[in-house]
Amino acid sequence: MISTRIIGTGRGVPPRILTNDDLAKTVDTSDAWIVERTGIKERHILEPSLASSDLATEAGRKACQSAGVDPADVDCIIVGTITPDCPFPSTAVFVQKKLGARAGGCAFDLSAACAGFIYGLSIGDAFIRRGQFKRVLVVGVEVLSRIIDWSDRSTCVLFGDGAGAVLLGPDNDPRRGVLSTHLYADGNFAEILYQPAGGSREPPSAATVAEKRHFVKMNGRDVYKHAVRNMAAASKTALEANGLHPDDVAWVIAHQANLRIIEGVSDRVGIPMERFFINVDRYGNTSSASVPTALDEALEKGKINPGDLLVFSALGGGLAWASAAVRW
Ligand code: ACO
Repeated sequence: MISTRIIGTGRGVPPRILTNDDLAKTVDTSDAWIVERTGIKERHILEPSLASSDLATEAGRKACQSAGVDPADVDCIIVGTITPDCPFPSTAVFVQKKLGARAGGCAFDLSAACAGFIYGLSIGDAFIRRGQFKRVLVVGVEVLSRIIDWSDRSTCVLFGDGAGAVLLGPDNDPRRGVLSTHLYADGNFAEILYQPAGGSREPPSAATVAEKRHFVKMNGRDVYKHAVRNMAAASKTALEANGLHPDDVAWVIAHQANLRIIEGVSDRVGIPMERFFINVDRYGNTSSASVPTALDEALEKGKINPGDLLVFSALGGGLAWASAAVRW
């Protein structure tokens, strides 16, 4: 029986850092408020001349390098993003071209906001298991700085730009790799976190720009409650589906939205914070990029060993949320 293994990881991080103190110069906020409410100290911002596909390509190239795979052998690229280069074609086709992945292979984007990477992992896993593709690159990338209202202190302090990628390949050992994935959405809450304009409902116009309807709108308190409850429930499901216990988990790689959300998940799942990998302090919320970026950083720091059980979980706009259990 074929299973799916993560054979390489990489991330693309814009060099420019925006600190809380920098933000406090332009909006009525403070480092103390942001750190206390979110745990975020700084975030990375992409330079104006670049776009999502540039960051995604950097992450994808590093994932191929770490796997020792020639990008020309990548036969499927899945990009989770809510900040594509343009409405169409997909960001994935630009990544395919820039990376030098196999022309004529498969490439597409998916929209599941912060859950986009785990959704992509699930689809990539299914492709590999059925033998449809052999080298699937799953990328989460966001340039959220382009859809943030930088005068709105309730949102602008939360987000950052970045990309994370994993390369998936087949393995013969069903005890290793992606053990299970669990995907959820509830459109009843679509409007607690969304970007109202820019699509077919409110096409771009002078009025939509003047009314700032191309920026992220969020009910932070509602999102917070849903994030804790649903990320915790999905993490528990990932364990139960595999007959595993919280004590079996080496690392939880949770969506890095907010340290307090992660602490709430830790409480509910019964896994101590020491086993949650944290980098939200240095990246802010990078939506679909956050889980693969944290995974790549945890590996780089030597935190993850062969045989370790990992749990991924994320929630974002949709609402869409997801979890996965992975045996490294
Ligand atoms: N600096 C200073 N004060 C602020 C700021 C700021 N950046 N933002 C809001 N405030 C003020 C508010 O105006 C309010 O003032 P008031 O009492 O005078 O009206 C006060 O702080 C409290 O505001 P709340 O919104 O109630 O603050 P809360 O404790 O809920 O924290 C936060 C806000 C951090 C946004 C929180 O609700 C949260 O983390 N929500 C989750 C949102 C999230 O993570 N979204 C990301 C996308 S979804 C995801 O990734 C899971």
